[in-house]
Amino acid sequence: MPLFIGVDVGGTKVLAAAVSSSGRLVRTARRSTPGRSVDAAVVEDALTEAVRDVARGRRVDGVGIAAAGFVDAAGERVMFAPHLPFRGEEVRARLMERWGTTVVLDNDANCTARAECAYGAARGASDVIVVTLGTGIGGAVVIDGRVHRGSNGMAGEFGHMQVVPDGLACECGGRGCWEQYSSGNALARYARVRLDGSVTLRELCEGDPDRLTGPMVTSAAEAGDPLALEAFGSVGRWLGVGLANLVAAFDPDVMVVGGGVSAAGDLLLEPARAALGESLVGAGHRVVPPVLRATLGPEAGAVGAADLARTVVRGEGRWV
Ligand code: BGC
Ligand code: NA
Ligand code: ZN
Repeated sequence: MPLFIGVDVGGTKVLAAAVSSSGRLVRTARRSTPGRSVDAAVVEDALTEAVRDVARGRRVDGVGIAAAGFVDAAGERVMFAPHLPFRGEEVRARLMERWGTTVVLDNDANCTARAECAYGAARGASDVIVVTLGTGIGGAVVIDGRVHRGSNGMAGEFGHMQVVPDGLACECGGRGCWEQYSSGNALARYARVRLDGSVTLRELCEGDPDRLTGPMVTSAAEAGDPLALEAFGSVGRWLGVGLANLVAAFDPDVMVVGGGVSAAGDLLLEPARAALGESLVGAGHRVVPPVLRATLGPEAGAVGAADLARTVVRGEGRWV
């Protein structure tokens, strides 16, 4: 059986997965991302270890990299990445030489879109907007069943659309970016600055606000903690406001929400749907698209990346 691996390189985690031809995860390995102030080579070492764990000595037919950053139109370089140390790095060629197998590269949210369109929530839809909430916000625009790439290959960077003039500083260098208000980081920040309001959250982070993470807020919200629920209310409403703008721009059939924060399901999506209904222009005069959770969950990026590698190796095309 051929072995195709997808590697999702996010702001905090690396996930490598062997993926079957029907989009199923066969085996996974995880590493934490070394941070954005290290050398790009250190991140590549983490990728190499994760791929090696998944391959277990077997010949690898191809690896797809889903990178949390701006990938050029040729799929060769990561030009810029707010949460990773990639600045114009020739990631594809370098890893291909290091691993001795075919390597393909795309943006992480684009890979999620590919997977959700092929095997998940957007199956059968032709116009789709995908938003992933992890460390930041990733985005993809699918038009007529294909990921729209734009002039530089950088279409879909929704996370850095300004929603608050002079708002919170963003890792991209800008201010007031959408991902500062609706992401895993935003969720943790909301709770962190109000930590006095929750015994549960204080216990989870052992009293140290800096140790509070998005997943901690999710588990507290699932247990009914009022502050954690409030954090989801805020992040969810901001999600809905942004989605309303995207519906105004693209009028999609469906919207798919993925990334780590989407594991919280309706805790996130209910406030988002409500805000979408309130903010969307002409809401009473159109079909408001459904807001669906990514069926493949936070692993969708790795699934899409492996699928991309399989398509390329089989000579069936370069992109979606
Ligand atoms: C980056 C995107 C990425 C997203 C999700 C954003 O900050 O600019 O390229 O897709 O985070 O990881
Ligand atoms: Na994208
Ligand atoms: Zn930004």
